[in-house]
Amino acid sequence: MKKKIEFAAGMALFALALLSTRFYMVDLPVWHFLGGDNGPDPATLHLRGEFVESNLGTAEYPAGSFTVRMIAQQYDFVPQCVVVPVGVQVRFRITSADTVHLLTFLGTDYGLKALPGTITEATFTFPKSGTLKIPCHEFCGAGHYTMRSQLDVVPKEQFAALRPNERRTCDAR
Ligand code: CUA
Repeated sequence: MKKKIEFAAGMALFALALLSTRFYMVDLPVWHFLGGDNGPDPATLHLRGEFVESNLGTAEYPAGSFTVRMIAQQYDFVPQCVVVPVGVQVRFRITSADTVHLLTFLGTDYGLKALPGTITEATFTFPKSGTLKIPCHEFCGAGHYTMRSQLDVVPKEQFAALRPNERRTCDAR
């Protein structure tokens, strides 16, 4: 009898350990199936919802503050470059169209994990004007080492003069 209980306890522990290491394969789909946290569908990100193309990049929202929306996908970030004003809080919202990516801002200790089916949010302030490289820092496949984007931090007056479509490209300057 004692042996049986020990065996069952062992199996339960093993199952728990397995589950805890399979978060994206097991836990997250189950959580979504149960109706928790209705994140964006990676397959239709570009077609509807918060992450359609016209909504990406930097927006002045909510009034007086800024939100940057980006998609990570094998093997680039969309948009390829975003522009933000210097010295103010910028809220980033990022999701993934496929696998796990990690957006890092070189020269800072800021990082954002992009996960399929989930929106990751964080607020950063960039104290200096300039250009920051933002490469992917989580191995995500054959093209991982080419996966990078760029952040242009510009003075507030310069940012205010940009049209909305000029805030999600670095071509205009
Ligand atoms: Cu995306 Cu590495």
